Amino acid sequence: MIQKYRGASILNLIMAACVIFVSCGDEGEVVQPESPTSQPPTASEPTLEPTIPQPAQPTEQTPQPVEQMPQPPEQQQPQPVEQMPEQQPPPVEQQPLPQPEPPQVEQMQQPEPPAALPGVPDDTAGYDQWLKLNAEPIPPVPGFDPHNGTKNVYVNQTREGIAPNGEQQFPYPDGTIVVKEAMRPGKDFIGLIAVMWKEAGTNPAFGDWRFEEYTRNAADAEFRLLAEGAVCTGCHAGAAATDFVFVLLE
Ligand code: HEC
Repeated sequence: MIQKYRGASILNLIMAACVIFVSCGDEGEVVQPESPTSQPPTASEPTLEPTIPQPAQPTEQTPQPVEQMPQPPEQQQPQPVEQMPEQQPPPVEQQPLPQPEPPQVEQMQQPEPPAALPGVPDDTAGYDQWLKLNAEPIPPVPGFDPHNGTKNVYVNQTREGIAPNGEQQFPYPDGTIVVKEAMRPGKDFIGLIAVMWKEAGTNPAFGDWRFEEYTRNAADAEFRLLAEGAVCTGCHAGAAATDFVFVLLE
């Protein structure tokens, strides 16, 4: 009996418990309407789901950098090493290119020294680029002009060489060449070239100068020797104090 009672009591207890659970379930249902409001927390679950793929993204991103990291250090490092030797040679090839250019510049400078005027000795070539003794063109001398025209006088020396400390020294050094050009009155071309060459031992009485004078009557004509020697020294003896050269360095 006791067992039955106990069994009955157990059954009763179970039933009672069921009733309680059912009632609680009813009461729970009443509370459940509140739970739908609490469903957002359940809705928060889907929010948790997107958060789940997010970690999946970093997992995808992390493998990428992991794959990129080993690649760049292996690929980029050898590349610059291969590119550096490739880039260095071209500048080496470009350097020899500018080297042939200087000879071109020298070739350009070689023709620049103009040839001597036609008919005039070659060693007067480019005289108009020498040191000019006169500051301003020398005008024709009124009345009688031995070298009739507007003149300039050049010398193949440097200012420092013939006028150290600013004071001209005499005599001129051996090898000096003095060239006087003259434009005849009313002409626009060089019609007269008078030259003095200082050659040691050739003419001691007149400072070892050798004199020649060339003239022409047209711009495209060739110069011809007009006079030389004693005709010249007779007059230039008047400038013996300045080594037979009249025009002084200005
Ligand atoms: C009548 C005098 C006289 C005669 C002759 C003469 N010269 Fe001159 N020469 C001068 C004078 C003066 C000057 C100075 C510049 C000027 O006034 O033309 C001069 C200047 C020169 C110059 C420039 C350097 C300098 O002395 O000032 C040269 C070069 C020259 N003569 C060359 C000759 C030659 C070459 C002859 C001969 C063909 C010659 N001279 C004959 C008077 C003369």
